[in-house]
Amino acid sequence: MEQIKLDISRVYDFITADEIQQLSKETLTAQSTLYQGSGQGNDFLGWLHLPSEVGDQQISEIETAVAGLREKTELLVVVGIGGSYLGARAVNDALAHNFAHLKKGQKAPHMLFAGQNIGEDYMHELLELLDEQSYSIVVISKSGTTTEPALAFRILKNHLEEKVGLEEARDRIIAVTDSSKGALRQLADEEGYRSYVIPDNVGGRFSVFTPVGLIPLAICGVDIRELLRGAQEMSHRCDPSVPFEENPAALYAATRNALYRSGKKIELLVNYHNKLHYVSEWWKQLYGESEGKEGKGIFPAAVDNSTDLHSMGQYIQEGERSLMETVISVETTDHQMTIPGDSANLDQLNYLEGKNIDHVNKMAELGTILAHLDGGVPNMRISIPALNARWLGQLLYFFENACGISGYVLGINPFNQPGVEAYKKNMFALLEKPGFEEETARIKSRL
Ligand code: PA5
Repeated sequence: MEQIKLDISRVYDFITADEIQQLSKETLTAQSTLYQGSGQGNDFLGWLHLPSEVGDQQISEIETAVAGLREKTELLVVVGIGGSYLGARAVNDALAHNFAHLKKGQKAPHMLFAGQNIGEDYMHELLELLDEQSYSIVVISKSGTTTEPALAFRILKNHLEEKVGLEEARDRIIAVTDSSKGALRQLADEEGYRSYVIPDNVGGRFSVFTPVGLIPLAICGVDIRELLRGAQEMSHRCDPSVPFEENPAALYAATRNALYRSGKKIELLVNYHNKLHYVSEWWKQLYGESEGKEGKGIFPAAVDNSTDLHSMGQYIQEGERSLMETVISVETTDHQMTIPGDSANLDQLNYLEGKNIDHVNKMAELGTILAHLDGGVPNMRISIPALNARWLGQLLYFFENACGISGYVLGINPFNQPGVEAYKKNMFALLEKPGFEEETARIKSRL
């Protein structure tokens, strides 16, 4: 049967099956804590059963609601940062044409992003592009007060209103935010924007299956039904009723924690498919923000191979031995292309004549895994049958579920992020934001 598979057979040179078995008890306790809602952060568990709770009717409503906007939109600017940005980007980039922005005759709107940085040049160049093409905006912020997206939206709102007029701009802006609180909710209500709610009990990094992900993805033509179908299928596979050895989330959580305890402090998420770059970015936020607390946590890093084998490959092979890697392997390609013969054969590639390009990629993957094992890097491998909405839904939900379990195995609250406030406090103090006078005085004395 076609399904996502997790293979941990290549960790046994580094930890024993007994060690994983021993950790299985802690893992199953952590899983019960998660499902019973008895652990820290239990007011943020709305994502756990979400895929089964989004009904057909809700999906149809979204599809109908965005249909009109799709028709008149060439570029969709998604304004958000962190958990209000990475899910949509991960899925969109994984499924979009590699050169969508340059391809002529494309029907679905092309997704662009703003508010995920504070780049003045970025914003200037974005506006140059938006001068020339028809666009709409989905602005996403749960708190409604995050500086980066608020700043970007202020500028984009003005630009759009000047370009198409107040009334049309209101029709081209969708807000995704809290049901009742925050500046964006207030603005959306006052301006009469169409708006969607981020549930109170779902944190940003777990929000891809809420309107945060679904609205922009539906506008850009992603099959959100299939995405949710995949997530739902994986939620059944990760259910506590599934025995530990067959439960991919429990097994992944236990294995990475066993490796962590053996001294492997860094987990590299490795792909061999360039479209997965932002899936790795999404994963980095999910695990980094969930687990990096109280002086603990596996450091999540990522590489895109084979590109990064020519930059990071040396370190991974021979640098400090604190790495484990998790490879995401896509079994099939969407297109087939064979390598042509060449009578001169100056590049000496004729031995590959008639072989598919993906065959070379798969041998690069296998060769690298074996080389890294020899070099002291244990390997977990997740294979997905193809890169489509269903398997992506499965993959993302699998990572979410495993993250909740893994956080409890680690003994921290996986659902808060107190550490992200520190930079904001300093930034506001340096910007002399009203209300931060004391902090301003204190930080200036350090400069
Ligand atoms: O996961 C998180 O909580 C963060 O990454 C937030 O999503 C991010 O800071 C954006 O916050 P907001 O949606 O409130 O603008």
